[in-house]
Amino acid sequence: MVAGVPIEIVNKVLWRIPNVLCLIGASAGEEWNGMTASWVTQVAMEPVLVAAAVDRAALTHRLIEEGQRFSVNLWSRDDTRPFVSFSKPARREGTTLNGRPVRLGVTGAPIFEEAIAYIDCRLWKAVGCGTHTLFLGEVVDCGFQGDGQDRPVARIEDTRMKYGGVKRRGAG
Ligand SMILES: Cc1cc2nc3c(=O)[nH]c(=O)nc-3n(C[C@H](O)[C@H](O)[C@H](O)COP(=O)(O)O)c2cc1C
Repeated sequence: MVAGVPIEIVNKVLWRIPNVLCLIGASAGEEWNGMTASWVTQVAMEPVLVAAAVDRAALTHRLIEEGQRFSVNLWSRDDTRPFVSFSKPARREGTTLNGRPVRLGVTGAPIFEEAIAYIDCRLWKAVGCGTHTLFLGEVVDCGFQGDGQDRPVARIEDTRMKYGGVKRRGAG
């Protein structure tokens, strides 16, 4: 709720914030997951910190708290299909998540082999933000994969998907 502003306007304005669309990788022990996320950005240069806001109800939230690490997997703009399947807990089979090959990074967080670039983070701090927790990760490794350096990265406006705005009544 934003006092005095209709919910539709709050949503429409907040949905105009340009955001990346990526997959967050998280793991604890043998449990791995990948999660579609748009609330991801760099927040400091020294140390190099990247933040991801994760819903307190998400499996990824528990895995980041337990595993103390996460990865940010940037995806090619011309392949936004994974974002649908990774908007619910992923199925792990061996070294795949929803059938997509994964390896463990320096921190032990799962990294998608098909990502055009990855950022491997050790949890630096977790800040409670109501419905979400802002996980601040120190970047310990990152790189491009395949021809990723030449490919534009997926953004939320490339899809019809929306995330954010005002929490729906009764949701969560
Ligand atoms: C376009 C889009 C963007 C999303 N961005 C986020 C996000 O930034 N943070 C978040 O916690 N959930 C986000 N979600 C929701 C999660 O992908 C979804 O709730 C997921 O099932 C929860 O993760 P889990 O598999 O860890 O339970 C987004 C979903 C969509 C469709």
